[in-house]
Amino acid sequence: PFTNPLRIPPVMARSSTAGAAAATLAAYNLTIKTGTAQMRTGNPTPIVGFDGIFPGPTLVVERGETTTVTQTNAWTENVTIHNHGHKVAAESDGHPVDYITPGSSKVYTYPNDQPAGTFWYHDHTMDLTGAHVYNGLAGFYIIHDAAEDALNLPSGNYDIPLLLQDKQFNADNTLTYTSQVGGFLGNTPVVNGVANAVHNVANRKYRLRLLNGSDVRLWNLQLRAGTTPQTFQVISSDGGLLQAPVSTTSLSIAPGERYDIVVDFAPHAVGTSLSLFNTDATAPAISTLMQFTVDRTETDTSAVPSALASIRRYTEAESTGSANITLAFANGNWQLNGLTYDPARIDITSPSNAVRIWTLTNNSGAMHPFHKHLVEFNVLDINGQPPPAHENGLKDTIQVPGRGTVRIIFKNEGFTGTYVFHCHRLGHEDHRMMLQESVTP
Ligand code: C2O
Ligand code: CU
Repeated sequence: PFTNPLRIPPVMARSSTAGAAAATLAAYNLTIKTGTAQMRTGNPTPIVGFDGIFPGPTLVVERGETTTVTQTNAWTENVTIHNHGHKVAAESDGHPVDYITPGSSKVYTYPNDQPAGTFWYHDHTMDLTGAHVYNGLAGFYIIHDAAEDALNLPSGNYDIPLLLQDKQFNADNTLTYTSQVGGFLGNTPVVNGVANAVHNVANRKYRLRLLNGSDVRLWNLQLRAGTTPQTFQVISSDGGLLQAPVSTTSLSIAPGERYDIVVDFAPHAVGTSLSLFNTDATAPAISTLMQFTVDRTETDTSAVPSALASIRRYTEAESTGSANITLAFANGNWQLNGLTYDPARIDITSPSNAVRIWTLTNNSGAMHPFHKHLVEFNVLDINGQPPPAHENGLKDTIQVPGRGTVRIIFKNEGFTGTYVFHCHRLGHEDHRMMLQESVTP
């Protein structure tokens, strides 16, 4: 049944480019409005999307050039747009109550002063992020830089973003969503908004930029030929390239996380189909997300060098302060430090330009993907052990295992102001599993 062509979101044209020097300014205009997307066979599915499409247009920028994105809200509900993983001023961070009201516009400024990587922009409205993302307000935002370009990784048509989600369709192809404290689980996988998707590939290496944009679903991914998991290489985590590629046959990706992988289809004969397969058993269970079919031979001059990047790492010795954050379920709600989100309350104050360690202690049985705004962090340890290699890079979202403890280390820098941190299981976030940090000069 995997016969619907994968949709690759269009790369957005810039409305203006001024100056050729380092600090080029690129301007984009996006309009939030209703539209439709052909998600599966039959009726198109009503969505709300950036420019009315789903996924939204992909924004592709160079490190160090400043971009502005003017978001115009031509929809009926308040929205606020967050560029996930970006180091930005608080007023451009998409704070949960910094609404763009219907009929108005807001200009977001992104310095792109951070390494090449796969990011995503999405709605962040208080209590409604899950519903808005589910109904279509999500798109890719990709930063390139010279260091990554020099590696000769698969690029161009061989570099494909994949937004992985679960949906629940009604018979007429409209979508169902209910906001619930446990989060919403659909029974149908969609990749870039397409159910039963297939993508034809050459027998060569591809870079796949995996983004889990689900409400709460965890994907434990394999790439299977028949029933045999194939080896692939993880080359980057949320905030950019890993130090070295990590060869594996499986990869766990939680809501909000990104991992770029390189898959080499060279060992497979023309005509072979491979499945992007999920082994996580959460009901309603989903096995195959999409398929790749090798349909041609091509020569491949791309490479995956054994050294990818030198990772900025902070050490415990550099830390000048710490905080403890507990994750729990109590009184019918998720809580951080015994609290639920109040946009009028500051929960943690951190000085800018100081290295901090946060200890995340999960007193619940559920895994929570913990996401911090403003800067990427390093993972010091998970349940007292060093993180596995693929989590030992730049991260902005980290799985805190049920009853587990994770320590992260980071330095807030570049901007001051109020930033949120929260669980990225959107149903949990919308039930106020979120607090705020004041970053002070
Ligand atoms: Cu992707 Cu605060 O969110
Ligand atoms: Cu959670």
